[in-house]
Amino acid sequence: MENCSLDTRKADGEKDILILAVESSCDETAASVVKNGRTVLSNIISSQIELHKLYGGVVPEIASRKHMEKINQVIEEALSGAGVELSDLDAIGVTYGPGLVGALLVGVAEAKAIAYGAGLPLVGVHHIEGHVSANYIENPDLEPPFLCLIVSGGHTHLVIVKDYGEFEILGRTRDDAAGEAFDKVARAIGLGYPGGPKIDRLSREGNADAIVFPHGKISGSPYDFSFSGLKSAVLNYLNSARMKGENVDAADLAASFQKAVVDVLVEHTMLAAGDYHMDKIAIAGGVAANGSLREAMKKACRDRGYRFYYPSPVFCTDNAAMIGTAAYYEFIRGVRHGWDLNAVPDLKLGQR
Ligand code: KG4
Ligand code: ZN
Repeated sequence: MENCSLDTRKADGEKDILILAVESSCDETAASVVKNGRTVLSNIISSQIELHKLYGGVVPEIASRKHMEKINQVIEEALSGAGVELSDLDAIGVTYGPGLVGALLVGVAEAKAIAYGAGLPLVGVHHIEGHVSANYIENPDLEPPFLCLIVSGGHTHLVIVKDYGEFEILGRTRDDAAGEAFDKVARAIGLGYPGGPKIDRLSREGNADAIVFPHGKISGSPYDFSFSGLKSAVLNYLNSARMKGENVDAADLAASFQKAVVDVLVEHTMLAAGDYHMDKIAIAGGVAANGSLREAMKKACRDRGYRFYYPSPVFCTDNAAMIGTAAYYEFIRGVRHGWDLNAVPDLKLGQR
């Protein structure tokens, strides 16, 4: 992986800060070396998707075992790919929540062992803070404050990034996460796991206005999201067509579902941007790789004169470079974790 951007803030005058970051919260075993927070020297991702596909979703026990098998190799590749040794590093960063507890524990135990053995400080990172920080990698000009929509398999949050690692949560999902809705609808159409990229691809051949699906709204909470009604509407549509013996055009269905999700995501984000006078908008998380969401956000921001930031797809889905970036900003504000650092599966955003 080549360097992705210019160096920005250094912690201490001339000296480069090198962080080895580890991510194992779900089904990717990942390690990365990041220089001065924004220059990615290596970004190694070992995906377990092929394995979990067989079961239609992530099987936590299998994920933990696979992380244990892969983690040493992935870390070695990250170090050799970056051309650095443990003795060159300034800290070890690791995702310690939220996520699958057994999966998180593998990364946390590994990071603690390396940090202890090499005499390096340990910096625990919130996975969602990592997703937000993915935007810093390729956008050297991006600095807080900005508005960020985080849409992943487990989370849907609309937040103001007030400073590095400081968030004000404006809205969140009341039920399914956006990525979860993509995955469940894909399964119902028979596309398999993970559904997001498959619906994204199939939608390009369909008519997004073919079927009108409900746009989830929560009265009195204009920035919150709800996707379970939409998911049920898609399932009802499929069942009723099957009962009547009618053929369903899967591409039209996928495109219409995707439009209903994207419309709500863009609408709520633009509403918050106007209300909070934010003119820098970013997106993050696996669903931020969605072509239709990226285009719709781009257009909405252009129409309003806002600057729009988004990571390359490889930095949208789970990776350790984003954890290295977040770890850097935690490191320079003095955050250090002890050897008692544990996996926290329900870690809240902004909690340390
Ligand atoms: O951020 P991520 O890799 O893992 C979590 O932290 O959850 O997000 C994974 C989610 C999955 O639900 C996947 O279906 C969705 O992101 N996803 C997409 C796309 N690529 C990944 N959803 C829509 N369109 C995509 N292109
Ligand atoms: Zn994630």
